[in-house]
Amino acid sequence: MSKIIKQIVDSEDKKQIAKNTDSGSDFKKMFKTFFYYVHHRGFYSGIALAFNSFREWLWFVSHRKSSINIMKLNAIEKDLENKSHSTFYVPTPIIPFFKLIKNIRLPEHPVFVDYGAGKGRAMILAAECGFYKVKGLEFSPSLYQLAQKNIQMYIEKTGKNCFELIHTDVLNYEVKKEDNFFYFFHPFSEHILTQCLKNIYLSLQNNPRQVFLVYQINYKDSTDPITTGGFFKLLKTFISFGTRFYIYEYSP
Ligand SMILES: C[S@@+](CC[C@H](N)C(=O)[O-])C[C@H]1O[C@@H](n2cnc3c(N)ncnc32)[C@H](O)[C@@H]1O
Repeated sequence: MSKIIKQIVDSEDKKQIAKNTDSGSDFKKMFKTFFYYVHHRGFYSGIALAFNSFREWLWFVSHRKSSINIMKLNAIEKDLENKSHSTFYVPTPIIPFFKLIKNIRLPEHPVFVDYGAGKGRAMILAAECGFYKVKGLEFSPSLYQLAQKNIQMYIEKTGKNCFELIHTDVLNYEVKKEDNFFYFFHPFSEHILTQCLKNIYLSLQNNPRQVFLVYQINYKDSTDPITTGGFFKLLKTFISFGTRFYIYEYSP
């Protein structure tokens, strides 16, 4: 575990992070994050999330890197269509992701698609979990470039090359027959999510197959746009250190 965390940490490009992240010290950012969590997600999950952020921060600081990588896209990208629908950049927490994947019985050739790949953190974690192929879709040019660098470094260190990083708006992605694990780490509004789901349904109609969809969000309305389409059923909700994942399955 520590080896992969070190690789991920090493992969972060310090200069770019400094250029792109909100200004302010790590402590200031950590406090902002904590209050954001408590405000939006309730006190206890706020504490758990803050604890996890703190733990990851310790890792990053011990490697002399910046860690609280929360970036408002407004601050880094001026002319992106659909930017107003995006949330903000924050990477998947490492240990909750590993635990999540252990909780799912993956298909024989699992192909991971990260909708909003950011700097490639979830893609690298998915490769580490043994996914057969790992794809990532990212529309922000600067995040895409950072993801490219991070993935390249990972490939050089491990020799594993199962990646396909695509610089695109998720709405332009045509779902492939091989894609069977769709990952959404709270990347954008329901408006965009619904359109992505339509593309996934179309692919399932054309090529029926077992697929999983993971949606990460810590607060959710009672109506669920993922089950209302009639394809996916909610298998379980999985919570690790305050990070809540909803796991869905479609089986023909
Ligand atoms: C919360 S981050 C998740 C990063 C990554 N998936 C991870 O888990 O480490 C959400 C990402 O979605 C991207 N995003 C938001 N809207 C998008 C869109 N319409 N098309 C492509 N990427 C988008 C953002 O630029 C951001 O990098």
